[in-house]
Amino acid sequence: MKTILITGSTDGIGLGAAQTLAGEGHRVLLHGRSVDKLEAAKAQIVAALPDASIATYRADLVSPEEVVAMAKAVASENERIDALLNNAGVVHAQPATGPTGHDIRYLVNTFAPIILTRHLMDHLAPEARVVSTSSAAQASIVPAHLTGAEPIADAFNAYSQSKLALTMWSRRMAAQHPQGPSFYAVNPGSMLATKMVTQGFGIEGNDPGKGVRILTEGAVGARFEGHSGDYFDNDAGDWGPPHADALSEAKCDAVLALIEGELEKLGVA
Ligand SMILES: NC(=O)c1ccc[n+]([C@@H]2O[C@H](COP(=O)([O-])OP(=O)(O)OC[C@H]3O[C@@H](n4cnc5c(N)ncnc54)[C@H](OP(=O)(O)O)[C@@H]3O)[C@@H](O)[C@H]2O)c1
Repeated sequence: MKTILITGSTDGIGLGAAQTLAGEGHRVLLHGRSVDKLEAAKAQIVAALPDASIATYRADLVSPEEVVAMAKAVASENERIDALLNNAGVVHAQPATGPTGHDIRYLVNTFAPIILTRHLMDHLAPEARVVSTSSAAQASIVPAHLTGAEPIADAFNAYSQSKLALTMWSRRMAAQHPQGPSFYAVNPGSMLATKMVTQGFGIEGNDPGKGVRILTEGAVGARFEGHSGDYFDNDAGDWGPPHADALSEAKCDAVLALIEGELEKLGVA
């Protein structure tokens, strides 16, 4: 039995992966920002699997302090984490600027997974996996957008920048930890019918099961062995290249230094 922490597991593909992994006998640590949704997700899993081992952790990922507090709670209550799925994500947000003055997409999709992972590194064994949910949508990072100096007019561009930054970080973490843990970035598949897509884009969307299956494989499947640092493109159904900027060491250096500067300013580096 592995212990698997899944952020954003109150809905969408994160909840689906939680159900599947609990069904396979793993201990699942659910995360969400709403106590009610967390309790509902837990109740749904336990109704189908009365013996499931489930814990819940609440943190609004727009708040770096809440991310740190959650990491501490997870660390104090679990001896080790075998897989961390950095899955929570947001496209549309109103207001678009979070409490720290940063764009909410950067706070939730980029900064929070980095902070959470950093604070759990002591609990991640060399065999552990850190799977970060990226996207086919990746766009070059504008420094003033990342730092919050300039607002980002377009929600999808903000989202795409934040996902490229997450992908860059995942690759760099893999390079910095050749002995493990392993780091992967995964595009779960485009336009999957979760609320992000059905509500956010007003379309029917594709079978979210595709995203659930690849997250589940990312957590425990053999297909991910030997692929630390790689990007899985579930639109193609295979490993593939991320955005070209993620393959440039110089561009990664610049973006990761900017992120580090912001985390220092926020007091969570
Ligand atoms: N659906 C797609 O086609 C698609 C394509 C590419 C990538 N992705 C990525 O896949 C991941 C999962 O998305 P999904 O499609 O399953 O969307 P979803 O149904 O909207 O689920 C997103 C999850 O993230 C949580 N979340 C959002 N903002 C949060 C915050 N500030 N603090 C804490 N939790 C927060 C949500 O909590 P609430 O339940 O409270 O909202 C929910 O549990 C995301 O990273 C997304 O970017 C999705």
